[in-house]
Amino acid sequence: MSVPAHRLTPEDLLSAATGLMAAEQDPLANMANLSALIFEALPDLNWAGFYLYRPHATAPATLFTLASAAPSGQPEASSSQGELVLGPFQGRVACTRIAMGKGVCGTAAQTRTTQRVADVHAFPGHIACDAASASEIVIPLVAQGHLLGVLDLDSPRKDRFSPADQTLLETLVTTFLATLSAA
Ligand code: SME
Repeated sequence: MSVPAHRLTPEDLLSAATGLMAAEQDPLANMANLSALIFEALPDLNWAGFYLYRPHATAPATLFTLASAAPSGQPEASSSQGELVLGPFQGRVACTRIAMGKGVCGTAAQTRTTQRVADVHAFPGHIACDAASASEIVIPLVAQGHLLGVLDLDSPRKDRFSPADQTLLETLVTTFLATLSAA
């Protein structure tokens, strides 16, 4: 399949992502293609990808139970325990594990709120996987009250991510999460 991603408008990017995810239910495949699509379509990125939530540092890989990350009615340890582990991404080799509350990703995961950081060097505890990164945006993935992970984008340009980018990326995440409940 060929998806022309360069210089897509936000509407076209959303449309391409929706098309990709309508054609495939597997979350691993959709996260892989979504990170590739975003990386290619949005200018000035040096990293785009996912970190997945693991409730315990020793937990075995449970990627394929992503859609049922925690039993119904059992929140994941108030999101203060556990960690994030590297998932599908585009860009340079990255940190494999991030503790809850640490860095931009761990903060987005623990607070379950998007972190849009204009200058990563001014963010307390920022984790510099790539020294070239200057700004970052991290969107939490929360489905039916359960934290599944985060979508993380880095840019070598300061203040790269606008409120409109945040809205677009949150919409892409919502579209991805909808494929999980449909699976
Ligand atoms: N900068 C992130 C770490 C992940 S990399 O950017 C891929 C952070 O502070 O959480």
